[in-house]
Amino acid sequence: MTKPAPPPQAPVGDWATDFDLAEPEYNERAVEIWSDLRSRCPVAHTTRYGGAWLPVRHEHIRQIAYDTEHYTSRGVVVGNLRPIVPGPAGAAPPITSDPPFHGEARRLLLPAFAPKRIALLEPDIRLLCQRQLAKLGSVSAGDQIDAAVDYAQQVPGAVMARLLGLPETDHELFRGFVHDLLEGVNLPEDEMARRRDRFDAYLDEQIAAHRRAPQDDLTTFLSEATIDGQPLAPQHVRGTIALLLLAGIDTTWSLLGSSLHHLATHQADLKRLRENPSLLPTAIEEFLRAYAPATMARLVKQSHDFHGHAFQEEDWVLLPFAAANRDPEVFERADEILIDRAVNPHAAFGLGIHRCLGSNLARLELRVALEEFLARFPSFEPGDEAVRWSVGQIRGPRRLSLRLLEVQNPIAPETTIPRTEYTRSRS
Ligand code: HEM
Repeated sequence: MTKPAPPPQAPVGDWATDFDLAEPEYNERAVEIWSDLRSRCPVAHTTRYGGAWLPVRHEHIRQIAYDTEHYTSRGVVVGNLRPIVPGPAGAAPPITSDPPFHGEARRLLLPAFAPKRIALLEPDIRLLCQRQLAKLGSVSAGDQIDAAVDYAQQVPGAVMARLLGLPETDHELFRGFVHDLLEGVNLPEDEMARRRDRFDAYLDEQIAAHRRAPQDDLTTFLSEATIDGQPLAPQHVRGTIALLLLAGIDTTWSLLGSSLHHLATHQADLKRLRENPSLLPTAIEEFLRAYAPATMARLVKQSHDFHGHAFQEEDWVLLPFAAANRDPEVFERADEILIDRAVNPHAAFGLGIHRCLGSNLARLELRVALEEFLARFPSFEPGDEAVRWSVGQIRGPRRLSLRLLEVQNPIAPETTIPRTEYTRSRS
């Protein structure tokens, strides 16, 4: 059963009965909105997008994330364009796949994202960060930079281009794809379809080039991979590359931007990290908890009652992991950001079978990118322009003006970054 997408609607009135993640206000005021909903209506509803639910308690989010019997991952991004690729793979395996196919599609990728393999990338990532910082040119104390556009948004794109073997010069295109597919969710259906087709055409071109000239990268790996002795369907290859590109870029740049925003607006934490860099790993876990960028969706398989709410077949259900991470029932001092929080079982990387495959890579990128930024700019504060947040299911700053208070000389990065052997070296 598919539902027709409703026409565009007026701005949100009450977040409990008419929410819309594509309204800029949602990501700007997310923490306040979750807190309000948690106290008066733990499962919000909207008739937009054909009907959607927004639970904000950890217990409810966890229950749905683990329940693959009542919910399908066929659609993970709520929008006017309903998913057209049926199971078992869905459009972007494994994130859009349900069991048992999900397990096959996920297993294929596990070795490439295992901790030891990812650790090999550290020198490359460090050089990419240094090169990006050097591109800022000669900046001095008092100057302002946009740390989202000129840093946070650049590093993960460059890393994913290397892993997938896509031209690094295409990073502006990647930014466009992220915007088109994850922020344009309330555009008319035909415009959304046009944007998706543009992305598909780009990926098909890249896959064809890799088939003509195989490389040591994940695009070639997927093009040659088999499940039960059969090559992957072309849609599977393209969908997984699309997933890795979008999931690998937007989430990580958002968290990096949110972390820099936090440090600029909490000078005591910035000073503490400067004086005690060994706190960085726990600080990153806390940033992941408090600013978890990803909210994922599910579709209801069959109508049923969920704690007194009548979930209808094909309704969307959102899983705002950041709201779960701020639930005072689960985390002490949930709305305080404690960069030395000792016990931190956050859900930023999801819960259940779809838990993030790229968490080792994300943590590495975040640590190295923050280390390099703080080495070049040990001290900074908010700049003149107000922070501008993304819209949609991935929350993070899209513009982040910072005034630099202390500037260290840039480390001259090598002009060519040697490529670490990555996939072929897998034994
Ligand atoms: C801070 C960075 C990141 C965050 C917060 C994040 C968050 C998440 C979340 C919440 C899920 C669960 C989705 C669901 O339940 O539907 C997920 C899945 C996934 N993520 Fe990440 N992610 C990050 C970075 C990355 C990176 C760098 C990659 C790799 C390129 C990646 C690849 C994936 C994949 C392949 C899945 C699907 C796993 C499956 O369905 O079995 N992620 N991520």
